[in-house]
Amino acid sequence: MEKQGHRCRQVVLVPIPLQGHITPMLQLGTILHSRGFSITVAHAQFNSPHASNHPEFTFLSLSDGSSSTPKASDDFIDFMSNINLNCRAPLQEALTQMIAKQEDLPCVIHDGIMHCAEAVARYLKLPSIILYTLNPTNLLTYYAYPRLLEQGHIPFPDSKLLELVPGLDSLRFKDLPVSNFGNLSALLPFKAIIRDIGSSSAIILNTNECLEQSSIVQFQEQYPVPIFSIGPMHLAAPASSCSLLKEDTSCIEWLDKQTQHSVIYLSFGSIALTSEKELAEMAWGLANSKQPFLWVLRPGSADGLDPTDLLPHSFKETVEKRGCIVNWAPQRQVLAHSAVGGFWTHCGWNSILESISEGVPMICRSAFGDQRVNARYVCHVWNVGFEFENDLERGEIERVITRLMVEKEGEEMRKRALDLKVKVELCSRKGGSSYNLLNELVDHIMSV
Ligand code: UDX
Repeated sequence: MEKQGHRCRQVVLVPIPLQGHITPMLQLGTILHSRGFSITVAHAQFNSPHASNHPEFTFLSLSDGSSSTPKASDDFIDFMSNINLNCRAPLQEALTQMIAKQEDLPCVIHDGIMHCAEAVARYLKLPSIILYTLNPTNLLTYYAYPRLLEQGHIPFPDSKLLELVPGLDSLRFKDLPVSNFGNLSALLPFKAIIRDIGSSSAIILNTNECLEQSSIVQFQEQYPVPIFSIGPMHLAAPASSCSLLKEDTSCIEWLDKQTQHSVIYLSFGSIALTSEKELAEMAWGLANSKQPFLWVLRPGSADGLDPTDLLPHSFKETVEKRGCIVNWAPQRQVLAHSAVGGFWTHCGWNSILESISEGVPMICRSAFGDQRVNARYVCHVWNVGFEFENDLERGEIERVITRLMVEKEGEEMRKRALDLKVKVELCSRKGGSSYNLLNELVDHIMSV
């Protein structure tokens, strides 16, 4: 099977079939394609990316047997275990056929959670590289679980929620991704599998030195392979859409009519759910804040129902006066719009990177998993956001929106967000750390 003496120019990408993970993988594909690599995307049938948005890639569909997006907690582990189990044989078959037809061997780049791809690559003697789509600060919390368990720190009582976790910079027990995963016995073996990089020759991270230097250094200490922190990757990838849902661009026309920094943008990614009660509190908080708002209400995101059907009837008047509601927005374009002055986010890692890259300060309401750690970093490490920590309540919502959008405190936060944007941009520009590491990554792939 081994073919020698060539420089690798082909890459097979294997993403997890979830929006927040497909997006960075396709961005990486776009970057590598612009550096002369041919790109094949081997993807599950469930949540397939739209091939028509990426005519420069080849798409290979693998049957996976999944039919619905996982919920936030234990069934995420079941979902990922099943995807890995079901995709392994079709991936092996597809790669075997692919390499039989051509001279050059491809390099497999797979999501860290898509560990079946590493097993297939190893079996076929193909080089492989991992892309972790979660940030290293989060991954370090997972790696710390065995130690925290052994030291008796987890499970932890409510009285410890606000205490700092020993050995994890700036994080409190309540920020740990473990705290809403009830089933530790399923979580820990799953995390151990993700941590094992097998025969992969390198790790790619969608972050940079300016955002997470200390975590990157600690992360590197865990692995004897090169780590390429080349993020935020969307800055190096031209703006082709990676959305699985159709983007409603009418909101950009609506934004064009609003004044600078006046609009609060609300969006909670592709998985987070809301209850009818929370929707009502959010609606009244928005109405009472008197700020213009653009609100993404994803179909099915209110306990499986369409959230627009559950909004209080009299809120429609407020929407007509100063609101815009869409099912799915062109988020990067929205955040880049001068009318947007704040982003109420669930703190998915892509959303955070996109907001930081546009200098938009945030209101954080994390839902599950890595989002709590991300929220903590936004509000207490980078200091570019306010956090809702309690149950959503209209008075509190009105106060936080007003603090961010109207008051001096919010203005100062916007200045800090703009400073952070400049620093992040510098990392991605010629001579910056992400730029240099991307060049090194390209050399690494060609030499594997
Ligand atoms: C998932 C997890 O939930 C998250 O915690 C993890 O960090 C990444 O994977 P998701 O919840 O979808 O991601 O959030 P996020 O990471 O923010 O990704 C959502 C993507 O969808 C972003 O790139 C965002 O720009 C895009 N999006 C979102 C749109 O294009 N339009 C929208 O209306 C909403």
